[in-house]
Amino acid sequence: MPKPWEEILLCKTPKSWIDRALNSLDVLLLDHAHCEKKAATTAIALIHRYPERNLTSRLSPLAREELLHFEQVLKLLEKRKVPYRNLKSGRYAHSLHGAISTREPNKLKDSLLVCALIEARSCERFYSLANYLEKSLASFYSKLCEAESRHCDLYLNLYQDLFEEDCEPRLKPLAQQESNLINTPDSLFRFHSGF
Ligand SMILES: [Fe+2]
Ligand SMILES: [Fe+2]
Repeated sequence: MPKPWEEILLCKTPKSWIDRALNSLDVLLLDHAHCEKKAATTAIALIHRYPERNLTSRLSPLAREELLHFEQVLKLLEKRKVPYRNLKSGRYAHSLHGAISTREPNKLKDSLLVCALIEARSCERFYSLANYLEKSLASFYSKLCEAESRHCDLYLNLYQDLFEEDCEPRLKPLAQQESNLINTPDSLFRFHSGF
């Protein structure tokens, strides 16, 4: 059976990124915490930006779940005695958000697709990393993989329900850009960085 992210992502995480992650677990977890917080913020921003689209019933529970993930990662950091601090953002989300159309309704369409891609990549990274991590972190990441996969579906379903059209023509260039960011060297190691 195909993994859910395989339907929208064009590439897998390169092994060189995994190796880098295993040597930078503290930064990985710190950046992961920020990703969960940003996922919640993005969902809330969409609710705020489009009151007429009735996004609250689906995106508010998603935002709450992301905040719960954020708190869980903070606890892990505490256990590892890694102080929570801000990190310089990587290029990934910034670059994808930069590809979003500035005109409606395409702006909302692209925003939903970028969210779906980021959720799918998070899911794929949790899955890939879980094979290499110690048991408790591996099982935490497997649980997160399941949640982020649901979130990816939720964003794609929202697109379908709101626009009643095939998302593929808009998804394709965004997925290509996403794949380029994953498959090119990156000077800054982050949860969604290149290798
Ligand atoms: Fe999450
Ligand atoms: Fe998520």
